[in-house]
Amino acid sequence: MKPAIDFRSDNCGRAAPELIEALSAANTGTALGYGGDALTAQMQARFSELFEAPVRVHPVATGTAANALALAAMATPFGAVYCSPQAHINTSECNATGFFGGGTKLVAIGGRYGKISADALESEIAAAGKGLSHKSQPKAVNLVQATDLGAVYSVDEVAAVGAVARAHGLKVHMDGARFANAVAALGCTPAQATWKAGVDMLSFGVTKNGGLLGDAIVVFAPDAAPDLGFHLRRAGLVWSKMRFASAQIMAYIENDLWLRLARQANAAASAIAAGLEAIESVGLVAPVQANEVFVQMAPPAAASLEDQGFLFHRRGPDVGRFVCRWDTGEDEVAALVAAIRRSAAGRRAGR
Ligand SMILES: Cc1ncc(COP(=O)(O)O)c(C=O)c1O
Repeated sequence: MKPAIDFRSDNCGRAAPELIEALSAANTGTALGYGGDALTAQMQARFSELFEAPVRVHPVATGTAANALALAAMATPFGAVYCSPQAHINTSECNATGFFGGGTKLVAIGGRYGKISADALESEIAAAGKGLSHKSQPKAVNLVQATDLGAVYSVDEVAAVGAVARAHGLKVHMDGARFANAVAALGCTPAQATWKAGVDMLSFGVTKNGGLLGDAIVVFAPDAAPDLGFHLRRAGLVWSKMRFASAQIMAYIENDLWLRLARQANAAASAIAAGLEAIESVGLVAPVQANEVFVQMAPPAAASLEDQGFLFHRRGPDVGRFVCRWDTGEDEVAALVAAIRRSAAGRRAGR
């Protein structure tokens, strides 16, 4: 049997060797726990350089924890958080925002390709019943960058949402589980992609793009979340041996490693998209701008790919999600495109 070719998720991939080496290098002597160590202090400084502003970084275990706790700290138990219907917090986090927020409600609003639009946000806020004690109160916005359909918000799109949020006193949270892929695609600075466009807090993804165990919350506006430290501690998410989390995250950004890894994953996804262009019976659900490709194809074509040993997730009967990792090989991309072409040709010939 041929070995499986794995496009299930970017968290199915290996950790980057640089991060493993950093963990090993951190494994000397003693250091104070809970972030009182030298490596964590160094990481704080490095992130402030990276984002060209004083920022506060909190390493956490998962992207879900980063999202839910950032939002819990920004919204109130009676607050509403606006997000895309496809947003990970809305589809795949088991009500974590509501749980950690003590009742915070998610309100899914319109937009294309997993984005929310500034216009939709404006009208939702206008209709929300601000000040009425019967209604959830508009408190925060969640943008997923890159989106859950593999598209990327332009800096202007983020800024437009940020401006509406600011005008109405809402905070802006960016779910950056794939922030590296988005920044690599945009070719802008991390600062331009975030606080300069109005983002108050970022879930900074590491795991999916070469990390081992852990993401981080980056706080741009300290007044956006004065109680975040309490939320984190109460949730059991302040690492006692923080220096290892910090060493991992620091190695991730050192010498632009995070962007190099993301570029590799993005390039693989672009190559798949380019390869599929000429195949009539398949379509793309959203523009391929980061490392995910959502392919519309007939259910028998998807089943045929599975029979040939390709691993991927289905999103409904006729959509397959193919996720490229930093370590996805050109041979794997070529094999996938060839297999999709064969399946499509087989269907045309009635086989
Ligand atoms: C866009 C997005 N946000 C957040 C997460 C959550 O990450 P984790 O599974 O580490 O909780 C994921 C994971 O798939 C994701 O795709």
